[in-house]
Amino acid sequence: MAAGNIKNTIVLERNILITGGAGFIGSHVVRKFVLKYPQYRIVNLDKLTYAGNLENLKDVEKRDNYLFVKGDIADSKLLHDLFQEYSIKGVIHLAAESHVDRSISDPLSFIQTNVVGTVNLLNAAVHYWQSQTDCLFYHISTDEVYGSIAVPDLFTETTSYDPKSPYSASKASSDHFVRAYKNTYKLPIIISNCSNNYGPCQFPEKLIPLCIHNIHSEKPLPIYGKGENIRDWLYVEDHASAIDLLFHEGTVGETYNIGGDNQWKNITLVRLLCSIMDRKLGRSNSENLIEFVKDRPGHDARYAIDACKIQNELGWRPRLDLEEGLEKTIDWYLENEDWLERLTSGQYQQYYQEQYFNR
Ligand code: NAD
Ligand code: TYD
Repeated sequence: MAAGNIKNTIVLERNILITGGAGFIGSHVVRKFVLKYPQYRIVNLDKLTYAGNLENLKDVEKRDNYLFVKGDIADSKLLHDLFQEYSIKGVIHLAAESHVDRSISDPLSFIQTNVVGTVNLLNAAVHYWQSQTDCLFYHISTDEVYGSIAVPDLFTETTSYDPKSPYSASKASSDHFVRAYKNTYKLPIIISNCSNNYGPCQFPEKLIPLCIHNIHSEKPLPIYGKGENIRDWLYVEDHASAIDLLFHEGTVGETYNIGGDNQWKNITLVRLLCSIMDRKLGRSNSENLIEFVKDRPGHDARYAIDACKIQNELGWRPRLDLEEGLEKTIDWYLENEDWLERLTSGQYQQYYQEQYFNR
């Protein structure tokens, strides 16, 4: 097993396996749990794909209650070893291939991680939790499983699944497996389906960090189609708080939608980004960088979440609206140019060129 130092000297109350903890959302969740719950041992299992970055967790990597394991959730032997060695009692499952455009060019890797990997993880949990109580498998999913929704409707927890991209089909499949394991093996589960996240440490292939990076370096801003598609944006720290709340106070067996009620057309959002960055950089013309490019195949028109269930049952509310969240996000990217520079050189640059401008 590829485990690092084993911190057996400390008596910890609960051992939690967080998968995908070196990624964007995962790193915020790991940090929250490591700092807020010193009585837990947090085992972060991550394959470190192009999207995984241990720099995201530099500030907590030396904490006594934190352990990083490099590995693949599709490796069942590794999972069984981890459950046994660390007596895992809770799983927060974030590891995934997460980018829609990549799922269009390489759907199989999405099936391998998002479906096969999730089922491996479910098998390990079923096996080790047979005679145990107080265990929880918390599966992190997306609102994209519901497909696209017309104005003024919202996705609720009972909206039928209608995934439209290979990414959302793989996440929908994983959600179905999680529910099937609840029904068949009585596995204690919670699922949450969240809207689009943004914030520090997001890989610059997603719309917001890509535009921040390109505005900063005065490169074109590729807007798919007419930029009329609508996404419902949530600051990543608000998602991490919802995950913390649901892990501790959510009703086992239930599904919860998480969203910020922040619906924006892509073009309006990118114009807002341009104006905030112009103010911060002392410029006036970043909007001129906008380029309308060929649309994404099967591009979902609109996502919009009804988050009443988590709000009414557990009192969760997002703390930041989009303007506030963007200010913080832009400041972070401007203060962490090195982080971005390392990611946007080499292989990534080639991928980016192929994806966005050579078509
Ligand atoms: P990300 O791509 O930034 O991070 C994914 C992490 O998973 C990376 O660290 C990667 O190395 C790791 N990983 C990938 N394959 C793995 C494997 N086979 N084994 C172990 N680790 C592996 O993704 P993200 O945006 O942080 O999303 C995290 C989760 O949240 C995903 O399940 C995603 O579907 C879900 N989600 C994301 C959003 C969003 O807007 N980003 C919204 C709702 C739900
Ligand atoms: P993205 O950040 O990839 O998230 P998702 O596809 O999961 O919603 O894209 C957000 C929206 O921005 C989506 O409608 C596609 C669009 N988009 C662009 O117009 N240009 C881009 O370069 C990217 C990456 C996305």
